[in-house]
Amino acid sequence: MRHFLCLNDLGADGIITQLDRADQFKKTRGTTGAGRPLAGKSVALIFEKASTRTRLSLEVAVAELGGHPVVLTSAGSQLGRGEPISDTAKVLTRMVHAVTVRTFGQERVAELAQHCSIPVLNALTDLYHPMQLLADLQTVRAVKGTLKGLKYAWIGDGNNKANSWIEAAGLLGLDLTVACPAGFDPDAATLREAIARGGRIQIVRDPKIAAQSAHVISTDVWASMGQEAEQAARAATFKGMGVTQALLDLATKDVVVLHCLPAHRGEEIDADVIDGPRSFVWDQAEARLHTSKAVLTWAMGLDGSNAG
Ligand code: CP
Ligand code: NVA
Repeated sequence: MRHFLCLNDLGADGIITQLDRADQFKKTRGTTGAGRPLAGKSVALIFEKASTRTRLSLEVAVAELGGHPVVLTSAGSQLGRGEPISDTAKVLTRMVHAVTVRTFGQERVAELAQHCSIPVLNALTDLYHPMQLLADLQTVRAVKGTLKGLKYAWIGDGNNKANSWIEAAGLLGLDLTVACPAGFDPDAATLREAIARGGRIQIVRDPKIAAQSAHVISTDVWASMGQEAEQAARAATFKGMGVTQALLDLATKDVVVLHCLPAHRGEEIDADVIDGPRSFVWDQAEARLHTSKAVLTWAMGLDGSNAG
């Protein structure tokens, strides 16, 4: 069974293969060459947290691939009233052909995968956001023509996005500097594993060190979903960690600025940066659609290879 709970489930070659396939989906979108590989198939899209891009991209991806998307939210389903994940998994297996889930703990996605006999894809947990990372990498590759030989910076919270960047750096052997305040480091186990795999990753406190000579600068909100009560305290702690034009001036002149959105202008990123010429955030958002098509068809064994 092909689950996609974290980037490691794809591996280094798998990531590149899915990026190539995503480029193909981008090229053929709206043409007869696009095909309808999900014809006759339904995909459940479970959201236990809010979403704009992930829901849009997955729902549109499934529809454009010829399948039927079924959205379930906590508020409108029995999951939100405490129905066990294992029971939900068994019902999903009888009804649909794959399931994507956005939730809190990574263990909830793992439990769903354990009890489902259909592919399960992680559409964001507190620990990882692997689908977003595929979109980020597709965007970098489209602009730079390569993922190799670049200096990557993560500036801000050591959150789910940071952890997925670290996973990507480990698998692909990238040079990544993470700048975050003490006490807001990324996941220690993910970092250890990524370094052991060959990622050249360092954690620093000064965003200027990360930005220096960077080819790619990424950031994200300071308080993620589920941390809303900490928003004010985090804003105070993270002061000075925002991506500003002054930081960009330290980077390479054609630096690529990424933010998976939603963004808070004036906090983790300034308006003149996110709305400026080095920002590729709209391409990055669109890439969610192409990469979702790639990874969905891969997980469902509809990519022309054997799903096993
Ligand atoms: N980037 C991203 O996952 O956005 P949403 O929360 O809107 O889905
Ligand atoms: N780190 C953010 C990403 C949102 C797409 C969150 O988890 O809320």
